[in-house]
Amino acid sequence: MAPSVQPSSSPLRTSEGDEKYANVKWEELGFSLIPTDCMYVAKCRQGESFTEGKIVPYGDISISPCCPILNYGQGLFEGLKAYRTEDDRILIFRPHENAVRMQDGAERLCMAPPSVEFFVEAVKQTVLANKKWVPPPGKGALYIRPLLIGSGAILGVAPAPEYTFLIYASPVGDYHKASSGLNLKIDHKSHRAHSGGTGGVKSCTNYSPVVKSLVEAKSSGFSDVLFLDAATGRNIEEASACNIFIVKGNIVSTPPTSGTILPGITRKSISELARDIGYQVQERDVSVDELLEADEVFCTGTAVVVKAVETVTFHDKKVKYRTGEEALSKKLHSMLTSIQTGLVEDTKGWMVDI
Ligand code: COI
Repeated sequence: MAPSVQPSSSPLRTSEGDEKYANVKWEELGFSLIPTDCMYVAKCRQGESFTEGKIVPYGDISISPCCPILNYGQGLFEGLKAYRTEDDRILIFRPHENAVRMQDGAERLCMAPPSVEFFVEAVKQTVLANKKWVPPPGKGALYIRPLLIGSGAILGVAPAPEYTFLIYASPVGDYHKASSGLNLKIDHKSHRAHSGGTGGVKSCTNYSPVVKSLVEAKSSGFSDVLFLDAATGRNIEEASACNIFIVKGNIVSTPPTSGTILPGITRKSISELARDIGYQVQERDVSVDELLEADEVFCTGTAVVVKAVETVTFHDKKVKYRTGEEALSKKLHSMLTSIQTGLVEDTKGWMVDI
């Protein structure tokens, strides 16, 4: 069932909020939180369904110290974006896909998920209530962050008795500031995911374990870390917050979503666009050796969009790849963002116009 709350035509505003808005430097957006006016909150008991939610002022939430999200990490998140077009429409990129992915994750973590319809309606309401925070055309996007968390108190390890579905948003620009391309370091010591774990769903618990490796890599001047499979240590998996592709000749390859790779929505969209322009796209194990021999490497994700990789470092070997105007990633980035921002017709039915 869809949320019972109707879209708010006039978002909650405060003079503090208006001042914050006036001070946003749209040209300089990065990927840091700029709190918007409103967020969406819905709750449901275990075994029941989400039936209603509401738009409330953005702010801190009150939660039991004994809830499973805080104690055992029972939580999922999503990330999606809304764009403002030149003719001032607001388009959301593939929200149904995020809804389905949240359902898959909820099944894995024994959580009550919102229905696809409920999820999409709630996202629309969140965007409408924060409409003014969708950046001007070409200046970035409104990043939308849905959370599903086990919020009811329970001391033992078990599903939470109550779940909270919450959506907040922030205007964002580039995730990585590096203009030429990413410098990735392969982590050959720690792993992001393992067979039978939660690497294939967007569990909150997938992210903090990568931070140590990421911090170490950044302190040595790298942009991000690339993880290898835990079973053999020979195949590439994904970076800290994005999927990876390699290009060799006319073949574009990316690791398969067989449990340890996040099924990225940008990943899926980019595979389709690459096929549309004549590339063969293969979802298969990709070895480190192949990566080091590739013509080009790029990363994809909601936050990252499509980002060329300039170098990969494995132990003391550093390989440089094609970047810039000639790179396939540049072409795919342009194809994708033209659809997202309404510059070209969306023949795929990806954009939801609100
Ligand atoms: C996204 O691209 O939405 C992500 O999940 C990345 C986030 C962890 C920063």
